[in-house]
Amino acid sequence: MTQFQKPRLLTGDRPTGRLHLGHYVGSLANRVRLQNQYESFFIIADLHTLTTRPEREYIKDIPAYIRDIVLDYLAVGIDPAVSTIFVQSAVPETYQLNLLFEMLVTVPRLERMPTLKDMARDAKMDSMPFGLLGYPVLQAVDILLPRAQAVPVGRDNQSHVELAREMARKFNNLYGEVFPEPESIIGDVPLLIGTDGQNKMSKSLGNAIYLSDNAETVRQKVMGMYTDPKRLRATDPGTVEGNPVFIYHDAFNPSYAEVDDLKERYRKGQVGDVEVKEKLALAINNFLEPIREKRAYYAAHPTLPRDILASGIRRMQAEARQTMELVRDATGLSYSLDLFTDEIDIFGEFDE
Ligand code: TRP
Repeated sequence: MTQFQKPRLLTGDRPTGRLHLGHYVGSLANRVRLQNQYESFFIIADLHTLTTRPEREYIKDIPAYIRDIVLDYLAVGIDPAVSTIFVQSAVPETYQLNLLFEMLVTVPRLERMPTLKDMARDAKMDSMPFGLLGYPVLQAVDILLPRAQAVPVGRDNQSHVELAREMARKFNNLYGEVFPEPESIIGDVPLLIGTDGQNKMSKSLGNAIYLSDNAETVRQKVMGMYTDPKRLRATDPGTVEGNPVFIYHDAFNPSYAEVDDLKERYRKGQVGDVEVKEKLALAINNFLEPIREKRAYYAAHPTLPRDILASGIRRMQAEARQTMELVRDATGLSYSLDLFTDEIDIFGEFDE
């Protein structure tokens, strides 16, 4: 009973690869924390990947990525007993509401979104596909189809949630109150820098530590991390601020005492990079170990994640049908064959 009185939350990921530490600090940690306060929906947004990669050769990789993301979700502690995990393309109402929403936003408004130009550039597209321009519209559909009020995302998605608010407002103004105005919830460490120290952590840049990386891989990635480039010897005083090794220590090392000690010695030139990195690798591996174990368990019992996803899809399909009923009633796009009989009645009246 109380379950249904909780406010709703929706967020998710495109199935383009396994999830990494950047996803964890930017969003996953938040989701796990929030899932008991909110009735939570987690979308695996496969249709969004088509905005830059519609080719079959990319579509054929999607199922494996969906599997990885479901395993990553379950491994970090998203609880299928309270939360709904589903695949976007399995909910036909997504396509329906998307068309209606396309009427409620202007092209210049979408052209002003800073994220879309970056996506087009990254995908090496010389002009903007119609569907890519509609990326945030489709995201608004994702958010509003289960009528979610809260959207935990990284800063890079904040402008999309803002657009979803505008779309809800616009729809409600035109047709009557159907949708809540969703709000974004931003994570503690919104964008995690990559191991290269240059860009945010991202699969495509090869600077990511994955939740599913084994201990040795993590160690190797940490040992190869970018630190203070001006520091040549362990006896040179180093800079802690903005140094990715210390950003990670702050995010993943639970021992404040150890981190403070390392920072102090680093500033004074009394510690080598190797010690700082060895301790970081250990901290990250301690952090990842229970996640790896849980992931391995679900991977070894594949009917569990399959059934979890199947029931998530069914649950979301039921929600989507309800929302589209409200949408059809509100817009008046709910004709039935009575349009014939109504007319006959009217003629009947005139005949008298
Ligand atoms: N745009 C998100 C990303 O950057 C993925 C996504 C699709 C999403 N639909 C969503 C996030 C709805 C939050 C809410 O990958």
